[in-house]
Amino acid sequence: MRKPFVAGNWKMNTDSHSAVDLAKALVSGAADVAGISVDVAVCPPFVYLQAVTSAISTANIAVGAQDIYFEQKGAFTGEISTSMLKDVGCAYALCGHSERRHVLGETDELINKKVTAAISGGILPILCVGELLEEREAKKTSEVVTRQIKEGLAGLSAEKLSAVTLAYEPVWAIGTGLTATPDQAQEVHALIRKLIGELYDSKSAEEIRILYGGSAKPDNAAELMGQEDVDGLLVGGASLKADDFVAIIQAAV
Ligand code: 13P
Repeated sequence: MRKPFVAGNWKMNTDSHSAVDLAKALVSGAADVAGISVDVAVCPPFVYLQAVTSAISTANIAVGAQDIYFEQKGAFTGEISTSMLKDVGCAYALCGHSERRHVLGETDELINKKVTAAISGGILPILCVGELLEEREAKKTSEVVTRQIKEGLAGLSAEKLSAVTLAYEPVWAIGTGLTATPDQAQEVHALIRKLIGELYDSKSAEEIRILYGGSAKPDNAAELMGQEDVDGLLVGGASLKADDFVAIIQAAV
């Protein structure tokens, strides 16, 4: 049985006060289930990681970064390494979020280096994949997602894969209020799980968690997570409202 996993991606939102307030509200709202029946993580902006880690230190809520760099240290202006993330108590890092792919131009090759470096440095990567609207309309969803998974995981052994969580986030559903229907999500999640079985083995396919992301909200969370291959949610906008995020966490239980 795969344990459900709900992660909140705060993106470029909050400030030093509201980030801590939000973290504390999650502790009081979700401490009874977090880490017990559902894994929970929040991914604040880099500059608030440490404050959020301190605010949730009493709860079983993990903290993740929204990105990572693949080098360990040196002349890489503006970048953050796995050892820095570990140093401030981070457990997870998003890799290849669609906004980094499409706004900042990250390639599958770069994302693969990030996933690989995260695992080597003891950070659990959440590899995000998903098609653009025009790719879905051109019936290229399977082709795009297959390429992103194959290239994102290139060179990883089955043992290293066990550190990875996957997130399917159709770009057309992110921040748009358009959610993939449970059937649309399940179809792609099943395809991804089958692909993992082909690239690795049936045990890896059975064990890997695949989250859905894209306008997940309290009123669609249970139905999405009720799909056989949807193991949790990666939540953007609704993770900024404590009540909504807590309701989504409770829907996973
Ligand atoms: P929304 O939930 O705001 O659509 O964002 C999804 C997302 O990109 C999470 O990483």
